[in-house]
Amino acid sequence: MIELKNIKKVFQTKEGHLTAVDQVNLSIEEGEIYGIVGYSGAGKSTLVRMFNGLELPTDGTVTVNGNVISELKGKNLRKERQKIGMIFQHFNLLWSRTVLENVMFPLEIAGVPKSKREEKAKELVRLVGLEGREQAYPTQLSGGQKQRVGIARALANEPTLLLCDEATSALDPQTTDEVLDLLLDINKRLNLTIVLITHEMHVVRKICSKVAVMDDGKVVESGDVLDVFKKPQQEITKRFIRQDANPDSGETDEVIEEMLTEYPEGKLVHLVFEEEQVRMPVISRIVRDYDVELNIIQGNIQQAKKGSIGSLYVQLTGDALNVAKAIEQLDQMKVGVEVIEHVIES
Ligand SMILES: Nc1ncnc2c1ncn2[C@@H]1O[C@H](COP(=O)(O)OP(=O)(O)O)[C@@H](O)[C@H]1O
Ligand SMILES: [Mg+2]
Repeated sequence: MIELKNIKKVFQTKEGHLTAVDQVNLSIEEGEIYGIVGYSGAGKSTLVRMFNGLELPTDGTVTVNGNVISELKGKNLRKERQKIGMIFQHFNLLWSRTVLENVMFPLEIAGVPKSKREEKAKELVRLVGLEGREQAYPTQLSGGQKQRVGIARALANEPTLLLCDEATSALDPQTTDEVLDLLLDINKRLNLTIVLITHEMHVVRKICSKVAVMDDGKVVESGDVLDVFKKPQQEITKRFIRQDANPDSGETDEVIEEMLTEYPEGKLVHLVFEEEQVRMPVISRIVRDYDVELNIIQGNIQQAKKGSIGSLYVQLTGDALNVAKAIEQLDQMKVGVEVIEHVIES
């Protein structure tokens, strides 16, 4: 449904050229929830703004629903844009309008008759769980409720695609989960394709089926969420996953360094399991087969869209060759295995 081919976006700034998006190829299928994760400045917003023609690529093509966005003009562009809803970190609501009026606004622009507008808006307000708050003003709502209005408004013209740019980044964890649940529900109910931009890996883990990792304008890694969690290829992806696995430890790098200092012998290994592997005797088998000692340092289980992900930090000690073989065996059992090395350069 969305096809990005060799997308490049260069901005002209006072300091010269700035390449915000660099040779991105991406293919997103209908009904998918696709996460794009990256740190601030990676080029995520610029990329997603090219999906609906808010930005035009310097090079390459964006095809949505069979239309090359940069080739659309006037009425056709407006029509295509109506099929692409968008929500934002700071909600972008009309503060002088009520909840219902906010949701009716895009319908007004699309020329929908007044009686129909109201009916449709009421239905959407119900869909996002705000029934009874139709006459409230945005300032009278909590952050989560404001984003619900943003979602209802984005759905007004029955889009086939919803773009979410850091839509939960201004919300607390509990509210974030509620809004993510709502997005998942809408995705299922309406078969709506969702592209979700975020700097938080747990957002991706909870509701996305696919993920692309962006760094410095490029997509450096992409794939099924569970595969990427189990076998991250790039250092930046590993960092995102570690941060997600240790949400309460603040500076993850420092925690890892502390572990390395505290457990200097053998190898410190981060294991990632999928649901069915949680039931396999993975650990006992390598301890028995390779005569290694295994010391569990930290572990947790996290919920993902397709089942759960188990994360375990262990220290493996014993004969160095046996430790290496045990790690290889874990890898062959399709467990995600990362040998932790020093992350802070001294
Ligand atoms: N309109 C613009 N003009 C010049 N530079 C821009 C513009 N928009 C974004 N950039 C630059 O492009 C890079 C990527 O920005 P952005 O897409 O907002 O990243 P992200 O959303 O991942 O934080 C940044 O270096 C940013 O400063
Ligand atoms: Mg951004």
